[in-house]
Amino acid sequence: MKRYDLAVIAGDGVGKEVMQEAVKVLSAISDLTGNIDFKLNFYDYGCEYYLKTGVMMEKDGLKKLEQHDAILLGAVGYPNVPDHISLRDLLLKIRQGFNQYVNLRPIKLLPHVNGPLAGKGPDEIDMVFIRENTEGEYAGSGGIQSVGGVDTLAVQTSIFTRETTKKTMEYAFEYSRKRNKEKKLTSITKSNALNHSMVFWDSLFKEIASGYADIRTEELHVDAASMFLVQKPERFDVVVASNLFGDIMTDVGAALQGGLGFAAGANLNPEKKFPSMFEPVHGSAPDIAGKGIANPIAMIWSIKMMLDFLGHEDIGEALLNSIVYALKDKAKLTPDLGGKGTTSSVGDIICRGLVKKL
Ligand code: NAI
Ligand code: MG
Repeated sequence: MKRYDLAVIAGDGVGKEVMQEAVKVLSAISDLTGNIDFKLNFYDYGCEYYLKTGVMMEKDGLKKLEQHDAILLGAVGYPNVPDHISLRDLLLKIRQGFNQYVNLRPIKLLPHVNGPLAGKGPDEIDMVFIRENTEGEYAGSGGIQSVGGVDTLAVQTSIFTRETTKKTMEYAFEYSRKRNKEKKLTSITKSNALNHSMVFWDSLFKEIASGYADIRTEELHVDAASMFLVQKPERFDVVVASNLFGDIMTDVGAALQGGLGFAAGANLNPEKKFPSMFEPVHGSAPDIAGKGIANPIAMIWSIKMMLDFLGHEDIGEALLNSIVYALKDKAKLTPDLGGKGTTSSVGDIICRGLVKKL
């Protein structure tokens, strides 16, 4: 019996609702397989916690989280708490504190889902983004001078270290090799305008590519790449991008795969020195929170990513197949997908799918 200790941070709004379905799925997996078990430790960090205590996470929060094999996160964000606080003081603290320098984002249009692009189906929309997750444009370096004055000056500095950039790119090359689909890796750049950081990025990419003769490479400027992502999504197999470019392009990607309800992400510390964190891309969705109609698929897909990372790819694949199974009957899906189902009823269908697939 393999036992995993998981830290569960449901967070705010629909984060709590979709996390309930994640818990349901985890318990179905241990019941059905009989050889893998999850010990869940719940942490109530988030914006409500902030409103009560003045902090998003207790002082020794990272120390506590570090004891676990992985972290599951729902979503954070609350109307009365500034987003830069909820993001920086919890999510970024975890991502940076645990050196989760790889953000992995599958962009895959599943069967039975109507994507937004005419003539582009599951064969054309199937790629994986690897986004550097701890530095780059989101390093948090800079400052504001003379706030409110006519001479106000704001500086936001991008930080690209050789170590992290190299490790991220190497991860992407290894991933292309392991995925073994087209063995093509696209690097997203903007070295025509960003004459320091992106010139460095490009030179490092070429240097690392020389050690991977079996992987075809391509370098695209972020603007052109965004256009191709919509016009020719089949051009992309594995993509490596800096923090900002990856963030923006993966939201376009989320749209291509049918919306935020399908967008799952993993924040990885590939060396496994620290726990990795798995979360849906969407936020706390205050507009639908409390109604029980949030789509739990992205959250459940992020569990598949956790299973893959923990070395249980077979169960991960069964879980994705169970999601596809649930997609067959559109009327039973949540309202964002045009159905009349609830968060909980969709979770139930996916668990029933698992019975068939596992
Ligand atoms: P959002 O992702 O919460 O919502 C955007 C739109 O998508 C809304 O119309 C919402 O109803 C819909 N939506 C999101 N998740 C859904 C789901 N599972 N099922 C069905 N519909 C869904 O983004 P928004 O509105 O920009 O931000 C709301 C709050 O969430 C803010 O406080 C923001 O800072 C926070 N946020 C947190 C993130 C995180 O925890 N990783 C990521 C993005 C935003
Ligand atoms: Mg984003």
